[in-house]
Amino acid sequence: MTEKIETLLNEVAAFAPKTWDEVEAFRIRMLGKKGAVTALFDQFKAAPAEQKRTLGQAMNRLKSATVEKINELKARLEELALSSAEASAAALDMTRPAGADRVGSRHPISLVRNRILEIFGRIGFVPAEGPEIEDDWHVFTALNFPPEHPARDMQDTFFIEKDPDILLRTHTSSIQVRVMQSQQPPIRVICPGRVFRNEAISYRAHCIFHQVEGLYIDENVSFADLKQTILHFAKEMFGEKSEIRMRPSYFPFTEPSTEVDVSCNLCGGKGCPVCKYTGWLEIMGAGMVDPNVLEACGIDSKRYSGFAFGMGVERIAMLKYGVKDLRLYFENDLRFLRQFTPVI
Ligand code: PHE
Repeated sequence: MTEKIETLLNEVAAFAPKTWDEVEAFRIRMLGKKGAVTALFDQFKAAPAEQKRTLGQAMNRLKSATVEKINELKARLEELALSSAEASAAALDMTRPAGADRVGSRHPISLVRNRILEIFGRIGFVPAEGPEIEDDWHVFTALNFPPEHPARDMQDTFFIEKDPDILLRTHTSSIQVRVMQSQQPPIRVICPGRVFRNEAISYRAHCIFHQVEGLYIDENVSFADLKQTILHFAKEMFGEKSEIRMRPSYFPFTEPSTEVDVSCNLCGGKGCPVCKYTGWLEIMGAGMVDPNVLEACGIDSKRYSGFAFGMGVERIAMLKYGVKDLRLYFENDLRFLRQFTPVI
């Protein structure tokens, strides 16, 4: 057997093929099911025990030498093939018109998010971000959610750990909390991010979606400031003719709270199927930051006041592009994605 191994090793070293097929035939002859090296391994089983150690080592050397040689030859032949392909390409008809290049496009959600950040950026809102995995305090407690609030239920929130509660944030309001903890007013931030809710996936709901939330805190910030800021946003996003209306609402972290509608940009307020013949489309929640929230985050609520607002990016994108099925934003179907050009 030792002799056989020696012969095969020499054969491997001397092997100098010209074509890929020769290398492949060599591989089969050596390492294939009925190959010479494989056959040796079968014989090895019957070899006397005292020889097994040295024989085994020699055989392993043979096997790795063979594998290495084959890999090296294949790599070299591949390189040769490439350079000859280049050479023949040089002989091609250079007057032939080039094929069209496909330029990539941004995902519609990124386009809309970037546009929102840009609109608020121009009026002094600085971007801020925070973690997607949060604790109960930043998502609920600091935001004035009472202990028995339904959002704290497993049915609405994805919990990662219980006691202490670690969860996937259900809204980007947790970023506000982190900003307020680390900064004193004046604060003017715009916070984009992914959020998670335990919802059945349908055309109008998804368990992952995107929000952008704004927060402005300073001395003498009033509801009128909130209204003007949002009106400015609506006009920039949906067109100069846009109007807004505010309906009273409730959020634990704002008081008073409101839900904001924008006049339907498709029918100009006259009524159409998209706005369900009301002339209005809901775009966000907003309100004056509850003093309890300011205090929980270490801000003097007697000196400072502020407003906050939060919107769903998918919702704005839906209104902007007239896409009715939310799921399309998550499927990454190129036929869908290729339709998007930047929002102006
Ligand atoms: N966080 C709220 C939500 O997820 C939105 C909101 C933000 C409302 C800020 C008011 C103020 O629905």
